[in-house]
Amino acid sequence: MKQTELEQAVAKRRTFAIISHPDAGKTTITEQLLLFGGVIREAGTVKGRKSSHFAKSDWMAIEKQRGISVTSSVMQFDYQGKRINILDTPGHEDFSEDTYRTLMAVDAAVMVIDSAKGIEAQTKKLFKVVKDRGIPIFTFMNKLDRDGREPLDLIAELEDLLGIEGYAMNWPMGSGKTLLGLYDRVNNRVERYRPETPEQRFVELDADGHLPADDVIAKEATYRATLDEIELLDDAGNQFDADKIARGDQTPVFFGSALTNFGVETFLNSFVQYAPAPTAKKTVGGTEVQPTNEQFSGFIFKIQANMNPNHRDRIAFVRVVSGEFTKGMDVTLERTGKTIRLNNSTEFMAAERETVTEAVAGDIVGLYDTGNFQIGDTIYAGKQGVAFEPLPQFTPELFMKVTPKNVMKQKSFHKGMQQLVQEGAVQLYRTYSTNEYILGAVGQLQFEVFKFRMQNEYNSEVEMTPMGNRTARWINPDQLDEKMSSSRNLLVKDVHGEPLLLFENAFAERWFHDKYPDVELTSKL
Ligand code: G4P
Repeated sequence: MKQTELEQAVAKRRTFAIISHPDAGKTTITEQLLLFGGVIREAGTVKGRKSSHFAKSDWMAIEKQRGISVTSSVMQFDYQGKRINILDTPGHEDFSEDTYRTLMAVDAAVMVIDSAKGIEAQTKKLFKVVKDRGIPIFTFMNKLDRDGREPLDLIAELEDLLGIEGYAMNWPMGSGKTLLGLYDRVNNRVERYRPETPEQRFVELDADGHLPADDVIAKEATYRATLDEIELLDDAGNQFDADKIARGDQTPVFFGSALTNFGVETFLNSFVQYAPAPTAKKTVGGTEVQPTNEQFSGFIFKIQANMNPNHRDRIAFVRVVSGEFTKGMDVTLERTGKTIRLNNSTEFMAAERETVTEAVAGDIVGLYDTGNFQIGDTIYAGKQGVAFEPLPQFTPELFMKVTPKNVMKQKSFHKGMQQLVQEGAVQLYRTYSTNEYILGAVGQLQFEVFKFRMQNEYNSEVEMTPMGNRTARWINPDQLDEKMSSSRNLLVKDVHGEPLLLFENAFAERWFHDKYPDVELTSKL
């Protein structure tokens, strides 16, 4: 690919993930986006597609049992001259560190909020991860076809709970049964909800932002109330600020209803316009690799194991950072210095489509892996070495004690444990005095997958004893005293040998702080 072609290809990429609390409507809106992208023909096919996918790839039995996708996948389509990559971030019980790590591979996030519920727990957690990256966050207030909370309340909540300014790109006129449409501040038009004909969907506003006097909506009290609210937003609301949006300090807010496909297209059109193309990425040495740099580089943000139990294969998901990925190319694995030929063993995660010809910055490539790769690894082509900054560690919240069921099988237990921890499937801790194994995860499913894989891949049956939710706090090693440990604040060390305390609850943490006021505690995230 010529340099100018590479530049054009990179400029087209829009890579993002949707963050939301379960049931806010992520699947529904994803489906609508795929419809606009021409990937699917009718709504309702995403869930169906998932189940047929299981049958085809003979994916882990645990997935089949639960009918869910254990790890994120990638969806790609072209829209308005842009190539969109949506990285799926699983919710529900399948929430795991993979979800967080996937957010390290995107250039923007879309936050879907149920307008009746406002900001919920999981949204808050995921928001924090994206906010720390300083990337743009777009908000879609969903389920407008139902009675929801006051829009002004929803905007205020963004600032109060998440500390991000909201800028309303459009504004609902009514909600639920009284929903008339959207007042579109950006396109200076009204978008009717359920217009009689497609031609009647949009009505242009005049220079003062008013509908033609003879329009049916213009006669409604709701419309007049909307004009008052818009005036209030113009005078006292946040000003649109592209720089703040780029840094993730302001979020453009769109209203709509994914289920009735209302406001989704308007959102998508603005999104492709304002969402960023791939940008430079920092290396360990502090320099930056530009996406248009002709030398290929990328990093591994996820490893999905055992797609096919007969072959014991794993897929490493690579986010391309620069240059062009081509099949069969030689790359260097930075951690080991080893050269690896990415032979026929490569697969584009552009999934079912067969016409993928190129992968450049912003795209995700799936590599068949026989155990070479680890999460966070950098790979690059050419002579000039590249090492990207390591992925952050995410503080686990759920903990389990783990022991082998059969004490005669210590060897396979240790081997499996070592490999799965190295792969990043779970976090491992050891108690100080007794060297017991404790596993940490951000979601319950990580434990289930761990148990399943120990048995199936390492022939090691494990006993797991839940310790429930704990708050992990790292302690300055110089201040450490083993006597500080108790069942309510258990002292353990992480894989790097760093000491930390697992607090049973906030009360235990306060108690500890009162007893040892000088001891410094930090959360990693
Ligand atoms: P998730 O992926 O974020 O978990 O949410 P999902 O899209 O599965 O949506 C959760 C539920 O909310 C679904 O209903 C879905 O139909 C509904 N929903 C999504 N968007 C809207 C909307 O704009 N308006 C309304 N009224 N409902 C919406 P369900 O009954 O739980 O599932 P299903 O049986 O319809 O699949």
